[in-house]
Amino acid sequence: MADRRHFLKAAVMAMPGLAVSGRTDPASHVHSPWPVRLDDWEEIRGQYDLWDARTYLNTGGLGPSPRPVLDRFREVMDDLQLRSETGHNLIEAAREPVARFFGASEEEIAFTRNATEGNAIVASGLALKAGDEIIIDAHAHPGGAIPWLNRWKQDGIVVRTFDPSGTDAAGIVSRMEDLITSRTRAIQVSHVTAPTGILLPVEEIADLARRHGCWFHIDGAQSAGMMPIDLHAIGCDSWATSGHKWLGAPHGTGILFIRRDGLDRIRPTEVGAYSDAGYALPDQLDYIQTARRHESGTRNAPLVEGLRSACAFMDTIGMHQVRNRGLALTARLRKGLSALDDMDILTPQAREMHGSILTFRSPAVPFRDLYRHLTQEHRLRIRIVTEVDLNAVRISLHVFNSEADVDRVVEGVRAAIG
Ligand SMILES: Cc1ncc(COP(=O)(O)O)c(C=O)c1O
Repeated sequence: MADRRHFLKAAVMAMPGLAVSGRTDPASHVHSPWPVRLDDWEEIRGQYDLWDARTYLNTGGLGPSPRPVLDRFREVMDDLQLRSETGHNLIEAAREPVARFFGASEEEIAFTRNATEGNAIVASGLALKAGDEIIIDAHAHPGGAIPWLNRWKQDGIVVRTFDPSGTDAAGIVSRMEDLITSRTRAIQVSHVTAPTGILLPVEEIADLARRHGCWFHIDGAQSAGMMPIDLHAIGCDSWATSGHKWLGAPHGTGILFIRRDGLDRIRPTEVGAYSDAGYALPDQLDYIQTARRHESGTRNAPLVEGLRSACAFMDTIGMHQVRNRGLALTARLRKGLSALDDMDILTPQAREMHGSILTFRSPAVPFRDLYRHLTQEHRLRIRIVTEVDLNAVRISLHVFNSEADVDRVVEGVRAAIG
């Protein structure tokens, strides 16, 4: 166990050339694959300091960071404060392993504060004029929807929505295709929708977008850290995520991906020091030829290092294992709920159409009462779903959750419906 802990710390620290306090980390020769696979769920649970007073089931809102990630974050923060240095070298060193974790190249990613920022950089940067149309899922989170609504308000673009619910992926793609006109310029989908956890067929949608000459952006806030992601294989043009949900990175972290040959299609809207490859007043500005052009000014390097080590932590478990664990826990929850009378489970059942979220309601109990009962009587930290009148409750199940957590939800619901 002590050995495993040592290896885990090494895995989280591992980074070629990583220097802290001017020293090179002794584990820095460790690259990929990471030295151990964490495969014991109790041991993984033990890596998180979670509040005993309740069961945490809201990773879709905010995900806790495991202790090794927080240790690393604090260590770098203390060190940089002590020396009063920015640590920009750490940001540059994080770029390649983080990009690789998501199947991208280091020139294709920018570090952001959250998913919303990445979504907004794309929505505000695409060249669109009044009357141009974009398509987005009707279940988009405000962090995915409002950047486009801003273009509607500012520039008169037309926002069209499709219903992402249903049990048939091909049907969803065909509903989207029905909305495409000669004015459609971009498509955005939530990879996993926030209200009910629908996993959308992003490869097929990428293909649809390509066939119609549309830019394809993915809001990946709910899928990064929930399942393996290979951005080049998906074939999207851009993608944004938060670090502080399923990845378990510190609060205020995010990643934006823009595929290499699409870089100049996104007009940089906020630039400054570090966005340029050369400038001179009054009339010269050359953008740097990477997605880093969207980062400017002094940044919080400990946060980026926390994000990098969160990816390393997840990689140590193995993203296929993470995905399968989420599927197993949600299957257990579905089975438990289905045994109760009249449960209305809104998340699709097919393995390829969902991840680690399950949303449900009961005709027997108003959803606010169900929510209140589960949070107050059973001390479950869950989320209420009021979007598009779904009127339900949402359970998120991640690597630190157990079968006992799932059973607590089922017991709570059983008691609520009487
Ligand atoms: C699909 C989706 N997009 C965007 C966001 C916003 O994330 P952030 O607050 O990190 O920008 C969320 C948050 O729940 C989300 O679920």
